[in-house]
Amino acid sequence: MTSPALHRALTESNLRPLPEPAAELLRALDAPPRLGAHLRAVHDVAWSLTDVLGRRRPDLEFDTTAVLFGAATHDIGKILHVAELSAPGHRHEEAGRDLLLRYGVPAHLARFAGSHGSWDAPEVALDDLLVSLADKVWKGARITGLEDRVGGHLGGAPWEAFLVLDDMLQSLAAGADERLAFQAAHPVTV
Ligand SMILES: [Fe+2]
Repeated sequence: MTSPALHRALTESNLRPLPEPAAELLRALDAPPRLGAHLRAVHDVAWSLTDVLGRRRPDLEFDTTAVLFGAATHDIGKILHVAELSAPGHRHEEAGRDLLLRYGVPAHLARFAGSHGSWDAPEVALDDLLVSLADKVWKGARITGLEDRVGGHLGGAPWEAFLVLDDMLQSLAAGADERLAFQAAHPVTV
């Protein structure tokens, strides 16, 4: 049975609901409510990001379903490494990808749990960069190196790519305080 605190994290607020397969996994694994809330915040930003980017640049190739599933599960390894919910650490990354694979999630969707912290690695795909970007912008963080890499995928003049991204990211970052408050309101443990 889902704990009432996790249920609240997965249903409260006007943040968009997680894709059902992701929410189901979090319930099955009895995820910490704080993690559920974090994944809702990042998924909501990824939703807006892919929506706006898709409308402004319909020629751009990315897999919205994969990005949204990735955003909704990227930190799932923190179920196994709970300390990384409140302190930096990378142990949750590989652990998260393995956990998803064990639960039958296809590799192309499980990969985001392992890749979201490695946006500066060579040859990272746009889908992975979008999950990493959502994982920064949800709290208002702007990372030039990451944004430049996303801009590189947009093609055209760098200043043009910068304008498209900056405009979009500024308006998304504006909702950061509300999302931070939502996440902080949900406990790490129940
Ligand atoms: Fe995250």
